[in-house]
Amino acid sequence: MKKIAVLVSGGGTNLQALIDAQNNGILKSGKICCVISSSKKAYALTRAQNAGIPAEAVSRRDYTSSVQFDEALLGVLERYGADIIVLAGFLCILGESVIKSYPNRIINIHPSLIPSFCGDGFYGLRVHEEALKKGVKVTGATVHFVNEITDGGAIIMQKAVNVQNGDTPEILQRRVMEQAEWEILPKSCELVCAGRVSVTDGVTVIE
Ligand code: GRF
Repeated sequence: MKKIAVLVSGGGTNLQALIDAQNNGILKSGKICCVISSSKKAYALTRAQNAGIPAEAVSRRDYTSSVQFDEALLGVLERYGADIIVLAGFLCILGESVIKSYPNRIINIHPSLIPSFCGDGFYGLRVHEEALKKGVKVTGATVHFVNEITDGGAIIMQKAVNVQNGDTPEILQRRVMEQAEWEILPKSCELVCAGRVSVTDGVTVIE
């Protein structure tokens, strides 16, 4: 059973999807050992407490440098013995020391079909605003491994979602969450925990 640390910054609906998956058996090869939030006010912390999962905040503001922030983060991850890290709406960029400590053991959910609408600055509503501006008819979500390149690691799972007439960024964001993110994040997490995902030349193979 792998120990999963979930890193969050906001509402935590993806965290909730992982908690639900743990309860209904979709996530069975791993167990959430802790939730770490970059914000003390994140509702995700309340979700963790409600589920009886240890939760703490590690706020970037409390540290003078990103190196110290990374050290603090690593300290908490090690204290809980985390094997796998899931970034579920975590808004801080992870430093090299964290990424190097967990090779192919950190996964992120991004609300578009990578390589569209991703990279530096593409987070939150902006992703959906740009998709609508471009007029794409299909968007979606991607779960991928985290490496030093923003949204650049090997892709684990993707799911497409249709854009509809009259969509606003908010409506599209919600549909992508409901139809794609909450489904593929727990499924990907299970595959990684079960050791069914390997990476060769930057590409995953799923057994
Ligand atoms: C999601 O859209 C996710 O794709 C992105 O951040 C958002 C987090 O939402 N990385 P929530 O906190 O899980 O509700």
